Formats: sequence, C-alpha cells, structure tokens
Amino acid sequence: KIVPVLMSGGMGTRLWPISNRYTPKPFVRLPSGDRLIDLTYRRASVFEPDHIVTFTNRRYDKLTQEAATSASANSHAHFHLVLEDDVKNTAPVIITAAEYISRHIGSDALMLVMPADHLIEDTVAFGDCVRLAAEHAETGALMVFGLKPRYAETNYGYIRVSEKMKRPGIYPADGFKEKPSAETAAAYVKDGGYFWNMGIFCFRADAVIRSYQTHCPEMPAIASRAIDAETAMPSPHMSVMHLNRPAFAEFKEISVDYAIMEKDANVCMVKADFGWRDMGSWRMIREAESGKADKHGNISVGNNLLIDTQNTFVWGTCKPIAAIGLDNLTIAETPNAILISKNSESAEIKAAYEHFETPV
Ligand code: GDD
Ligand code: MG
Repeated sequence: KIVPVLMSGGMGTRLWPISNRYTPKPFVRLPSGDRLIDLTYRRASVFEPDHIVTFTNRRYDKLTQEAATSASANSHAHFHLVLEDDVKNTAPVIITAAEYISRHIGSDALMLVMPADHLIEDTVAFGDCVRLAAEHAETGALMVFGLKPRYAETNYGYIRVSEKMKRPGIYPADGFKEKPSAETAAAYVKDGGYFWNMGIFCFRADAVIRSYQTHCPEMPAIASRAIDAETAMPSPHMSVMHLNRPAFAEFKEISVDYAIMEKDANVCMVKADFGWRDMGSWRMIREAESGKADKHGNISVGNNLLIDTQNTFVWGTCKPIAAIGLDNLTIAETPNAILISKNSESAEIKAAYEHFETPV
C-alpha cells in the first residue's frame, strides 16, 4: 500500500513576492484558484491511502493543518503532520520520514515522496506511472521519475539510463548527476540518453533506510532520535508530531539527490510524461500560464492595461497595473511588495526574498 509523503518545508525564495514568509509557495493561490498544496493532497488521494504523511516547517503548521483538514473531506486517510524547526533540505526529511513510517506504519510500507510545489496536468497518467514504479519498488529498488529534458536546466538532477529494461517500463539508472554546470547540462541534453529527475521518489521504507546506512551511516540514528517526540491528536484523523529539536538539529543540510541518488547502485527510472512542472521560479509560472499569452507574448493576471509592451508577464493581486513600452519584464504585485525584474534569471529574486522576508 502506498504512503504518500509530502514535503512542503522549502521557502520558495525564487517566487518572491507571491511566495513570502507568511505564504510560502505551496500555499500561494495560482491564477486557476488552486493552491499547490491542495493539488498535491488531491494527487495523493488517487491511491486511496490509509496514511498521508506531511513533513513541513513548524512555521507552516497552521497553514498545513488547515490544508490537511480540507483534504481529509475527500480521503479516509489518517493525516500525519511532522514539524521541523530547521530547514535541512530533503535528505534529513526523507530518512526521518522512513524511520517514522517504519515505527508507526510498517517497515515494508511503500513511500511515495511528493514535493508539494509541482503542477501535474494528467493525474491519470501520473497514477499509472506511480503504480508501475511501486511494483518495482517492492523489490527494494529506489524509483525515480524521468522526463525528456527540454533545455539545459541547471537546477535539476539528470538521470542516465541504460536502454536495457529490467521489466517493461523500468530502466536501471547508469548515473545520476544533481544540478550540473551549464556546460554539462547542455552536453547531457545533446547526448539524448539523459532524463530530468522530477524530484518524486518511490521506495520501501526499509530499502531507503538501508541505502542511508550504506551512504550516510550517521543519518538513520539521528532520525530515530528525532522521532522520539510526543504526538498530539487535534482530531481523530490527524496527528501532529513536533520533532525532537536537538536531535533534528544534528543533521547536516543536504538534499537526497546528493546524499543517496548519486551514489546508490539500485536506482531505477520510470519514463514519465504527465504534464509535470516544478513551480520553482517565475519562468515556470510564465510557462504554465503561456496559453494566456496575447499576440505580443504578454501574459496578464489581474485587471491590468498593457500598451506597446512585449513578452512581459504582469501578475497583479490587488491593484491594477498599467505597463507601457516594456519588453521582457516580469512584474508581480502583492499587498506587501512589488517585483519588477527582467525575465532572465532568478538568482537575484532570492536576494530580494532574503532582504525583505528574513524575520528580524
Ligand atoms: N519538509 C521539508 N523540509 N521540505 C523541504 C525542505 C526541508 O528542509 N527543503 C526542501 N523541501 C521540499 C521543498 O518544499 C520541495 O517541495 C521539495 O522538498 C524539493 O526541494 P527543492 O529545494 O525544490 O529541490 P530542487 O527543486 O532544488 O531539486 C529537486 O527537485 C528537482 C525537480 O523539481 C531535486 O530532486 C532535483 O534532482 C530535481 O530535478
Ligand atoms: Mg523544486
């Protein structure tokens, strides 16, 4: 039986100002009216799970409890919320989730790790891919989902597969490279044998614990101390655990891709194409909304007026915006802040987040 594990503890700095310290990325309302967290819970429910586990930062406790409560209206699952004090990236989260699931649900449970900041258009194809991956994960493999790369993205992991399938649709990974340099990424795209790692994983709890024991032997012990903590039951279908703070603080900050996926020999990939987007940056929002572009390539969300303007993205949440004589800009307005930026890269947007959102 599949146990979805949602991760929503990242901050979404590159989507400032709509993602900010009060409303991080999974809780932002998109132009469609949906929030990524609600869409992720809906995807998790497709597997009719008995348990849904969510790891998030303590700061998003209330927001997450509300989202889980509304998701529970359409699910018989028990919702487990697990709260972290520190942002340690995904390797500590996943080993702690595996230890938590082993102890409270079962060590042979199949974890489906789902970042809560993805957009997936075809939920049916997603369900089919996950079921295929889950079948092979039963053998102890660490399953990843691969998409044919569209360009040389440097913020993703790349999976190299051998063409010899283990069984229909299951490709053993020959190599995994997290966040390559621009030149390496370009070479991978040209090569044709590499796939983008979607950041969704499926494995048995005991299999991933074994992998950590081999590649990061100190982490499982820290994780099992981190879950020595009390659980509150705010409602019959929900439990909330605040992880043991000093134990969790011992983890080094590292992502699962560097910690495990680059090293493990038993990584297998399912080729996937279900209209996936990681909504990590304004570029991704622009792509997701590209169907709304006018003949000059402008996309406008809200009550805006664009004159003599091209390739410009305007997102207004409360005030009307007039854009005149602009080219290649992204503009976003919220009650608290305004972003005006060139469409090209997003590293500087992170700096704006850090400048304005870091609590004093
Ligand atoms: N609970 C919790 N705690 N969640 C976290 C933490 C944390 O400390 N850090 C990150 N997350 C969550 C994020 O909110 C996000 O949903 C997910 O974990 C992945 O983290 P990102 O920081 O968005 O990772 P990434 O996008 O740079 O890279 C990963 O995803 C790419 C695809 O989107 C990697 O797996 C890449 O290989 C992959 O290509
Ligand atoms: Mg991401």
